[in-house]
Amino acid sequence: MAFENILYDVKDHIAHITLNRPEKLNALSWKTMSELREAFLQAKADSAVKGIILTGAGDKAFAAGADIQELSEMSAYEAKEFALNAQEILGLIEHFPKPVIAAVNGYCLGGGNELAMACHMRWASEKAKFGQPEVNLGIIPGNGGTQRLPRLIGKGRAIELVISGNMIDAQEAYRIGLVNHVVPHEELISSCEAFLQTVFQKGPVAVRLALEAVTRGLEMGVEDGIAFEASLFGVAFSTEDMKEGTKAFLEKRKAQFQGK
Ligand code: COA
Repeated sequence: MAFENILYDVKDHIAHITLNRPEKLNALSWKTMSELREAFLQAKADSAVKGIILTGAGDKAFAAGADIQELSEMSAYEAKEFALNAQEILGLIEHFPKPVIAAVNGYCLGGGNELAMACHMRWASEKAKFGQPEVNLGIIPGNGGTQRLPRLIGKGRAIELVISGNMIDAQEAYRIGLVNHVVPHEELISSCEAFLQTVFQKGPVAVRLALEAVTRGLEMGVEDGIAFEASLFGVAFSTEDMKEGTKAFLEKRKAQFQGK
């Protein structure tokens, strides 16, 4: 499928999905969000794709937020629809059955930061800058930011960022747990690729179940989450991968997983 605001490329089992409106710092318009949904659905359906790297085109931005031009013209009802539509797409990413890394290459603001937080993991270039600047526009985050940010960095730090609109750099984002790693700018994509290739060596069904246990489990109370984990733990024992993985360990050889 041809996209206008997204680049889509598959290499070595990784779908590279790139927000591609660099002249507008990859601001997330309706069209960009629709294309993002299509790109993720394409990656979900493609059995050759085992993981995703989401990044922004150009040297300056991952995404500088929702498209403020579009926001400025929305009615209250349209704004609600815009938020619900974006939340649905971010939900698709959060519950994606293959690991998704946000490779944050520059400004990661507002809806951009909300999008990065919906990904399973975040790698930051040392040039990256993060923030929820919505209050500067007289609005609040609408794509799950008030919910995912405190779950990642804690309530006090999340409130500080959301009510101040302050930007933080990559090292501070790392210190407070917003990103997994900070890497030199030119190594951003290659370090994400290297990480995913190590994951691809593991039991594919186990990786999928682990993603589900963490993401769905976090949406439950801890007792329910632990019970859910036990069920998925049991499911893993129904796989050929489990038989192969345990057998290979005992035979002191590398496991040959089939993803079954
Ligand atoms: N929506 C629409 N357009 C945006 C945008 C956004 N969120 N962020 C940047 N742009 C556009 C700018 O209007 C400008 O377009 P122009 O060249 O046609 O005038 C272009 O992208 C480059 O941005 P500019 O502001 O000139 O770059 P800068 O380096 O001076 O500043 C930022 C970078 C990120 C500090 C600044 O662009 C900014 O504050 N953006 C808005 C961030 C925001 O509030 N996001 C939350 C939205 S809810």
